[in-house]
Amino acid sequence: MRVLVGVTGGVAAYKAAEIIRILVESGHEVRAVPTANALRFIGVATLESLTHNSVHSELYSDVEDVRHVEMAKWADLILVAPATASFLARTVSGLADDLLGNVVLATKAPLVLAPAMHTEMWQNKATVSNVAKLRERGIRVIEPAVGRLTGSDSGIGRLPDPSYIVQSALSNLVPKDLAGKNVLIIAGGTRENIDPVRFIGNRSSGKQGIALAEEAVARGAMVELVAANFSYYSPEIETTEVVSTSELISTLEHRESNFDFVIMPAAVADYRVEHPSENKIKKGAAGEELVLTLVENPDVISLLSKRLRIANPKVVIVGFAAETASETALIDLAKGKLIRKELDMVVANEVSATLGFDRDSNEVVLVGPDFEHTVSGTKRAIAKAIFDTINR
Ligand code: PMT
Repeated sequence: MRVLVGVTGGVAAYKAAEIIRILVESGHEVRAVPTANALRFIGVATLESLTHNSVHSELYSDVEDVRHVEMAKWADLILVAPATASFLARTVSGLADDLLGNVVLATKAPLVLAPAMHTEMWQNKATVSNVAKLRERGIRVIEPAVGRLTGSDSGIGRLPDPSYIVQSALSNLVPKDLAGKNVLIIAGGTRENIDPVRFIGNRSSGKQGIALAEEAVARGAMVELVAANFSYYSPEIETTEVVSTSELISTLEHRESNFDFVIMPAAVADYRVEHPSENKIKKGAAGEELVLTLVENPDVISLLSKRLRIANPKVVIVGFAAETASETALIDLAKGKLIRKELDMVVANEVSATLGFDRDSNEVVLVGPDFEHTVSGTKRAIAKAIFDTINR
């Protein structure tokens, strides 16, 4: 895809370099158009070397090329990051007094703006009204993040993480085939306390769950994410963090039941310590051996499946199966879980020290009552294949 990255004059302009790098590394062709003020914060040499294209910000140089029209037609997508309060105001008014303003006015490509400014400026009535007008016109305005700002102050107004901006901007072009659907993703690994400082846990990072949640949002769904022992922030995803399996169960019991899709890559502890110690267990206090009695945890997805199917018989419930087995045995084990846990699909995942957990890519088999498809690639590609399969 051909992405034109506009950069306006704010301290966060340095993050445009990372945004461009991610886009180029993902195979997109990128051109950058900084405003004159952006060039106070980031240099032409940086933008040219990262985009591998020449960079112009002047409207009145090489006028015979009619550059703003050529660029406006060239772009499949225009992303302005950071977008200052002044740029938002100029875009609302259709002010075209520099190259970027002219390109934005002349293009038919989707426009995505990632504002960054101080909290007071973001919350000023003028900016609030400008953002509302831009959104009414179908322009996507990404919510700024909350965090440290330029000075010693903190609040809303920070430019979100570059990878989030890229993913959010590209999702603008994805067909919204999950619009109106409610999706619940349960991810991460639960932990069971041994004492206040030690726990039994597993290596799940939550990456597969995040990929599923972001894919669903990109396709227009309303998404809730239950995150066991990882943190994730997105203004578009309601996230609840949990620690233990019992906390996961009580969180799910208090959830609405109107989901269309429930997907659970979570690695749930099958057992918990029967009597966790209230105080830190001292070395040697129990002699040379410390014996812990473990009791079985309930099967969360089976409980959920029974409850949700009463509320909505059409709900589609997808579990995962993490196994250290060969592919044939993996599929047989997944088929067993499909029936035993009353699921619509099981994503069979061979796991080992180098596969599955805490990696950006994976290889899985999607196992349904009458199909088996092998999918490999990034966790986002696997998320896409899962939704393509269940949203038919
Ligand atoms: O988080 P990442 O680092 O990205 O790693 C992703 C992953 C490897 C964790 C994921 O791809 C995966 O394979 N998840 C399944 C982990 C697992 O615990 O599988 P299982 O075979 O033990 O459980 C089968 C299904 O039952 C799972 O959907 C599980 O969430 C559910 N379960 C298991 C036990 C239990 N007490 N309650 C459950 O609901």
